Amino acid sequence: MAVTPRTLARWKQENRPIVALTATDYAFARVLDGAGIDLILVGDSLAMVALGHATTLPLTLDDIIHHAKAVCRGVQRALVVVDLPFLSYQIDSAQAIASAGRILQETGAAAVKLEGGYPQLLDSVKRLVEIGIPVMGHVGLTPQSIHQTGYRQQGQDPAAEAKILAEAIALEQAGVFCLVLEHITADLARRISQQLTIPTIGIGAGSACDGQILVTHDLLGFSERQPPFAKVYTDLQATITTAACQYITDVFQNAQVKHPDFPEVKP
Ligand code: KIV
Repeated sequence: MAVTPRTLARWKQENRPIVALTATDYAFARVLDGAGIDLILVGDSLAMVALGHATTLPLTLDDIIHHAKAVCRGVQRALVVVDLPFLSYQIDSAQAIASAGRILQETGAAAVKLEGGYPQLLDSVKRLVEIGIPVMGHVGLTPQSIHQTGYRQQGQDPAAEAKILAEAIALEQAGVFCLVLEHITADLARRISQQLTIPTIGIGAGSACDGQILVTHDLLGFSERQPPFAKVYTDLQATITTAACQYITDVFQNAQVKHPDFPEVKP
């Protein structure tokens, strides 16, 4: 059975944790979906992990649509959510509708995610939900504001905590079906998760959220900048390096040629 926003709402009631990961292409999406991941996010972190940018800011709507199309081709069960990139939704609700509409129409994804909880954004969320576009919220550390916040944990003093809690409540009232809580204290994440009726999905926010998400490249040991909260489950970088070196060795050995740059590759 395909996972939908309503499935996630039911799972929160049943206390069944939601397991989410990011994907940037067909191959990874197919494997993650087959493994049983419930929600696959085409996150704008792909700007860094797949395209080599320093932040999420250079990613365009066309870029993410290109990747999301490939991801959707690989997924049969998981709910696919696509990030609205920086400056593709902040100007006004008309821009948010145009961008989210393109994502749903062109990729086959079922929902979009946007960052923040300020008043003008809440209007856009309401308009998107009114016209039938499921929206996922994202508060706490919001990487599209990285030049203001840095990569520090957010909500570290009472005023900052209160602001994040108020944003979470306002987003639920505006109609988001689910909320990402990124890099906030476990205590704040627990309080938000208890207070909201929609599911929360944590990343670096403790274990009391209704679900967890990680950037897949971090989980696989692929990232150049590993976040402090992301456990490395396997070192795929080492595995791929070993396989590539073995392949180089095989090619040079079969040709009986000494490698000009790596003398350790014996012919
Ligand atoms: O872009 C992304 O990968 C995200 C996750 C960190 C939740 O937004």
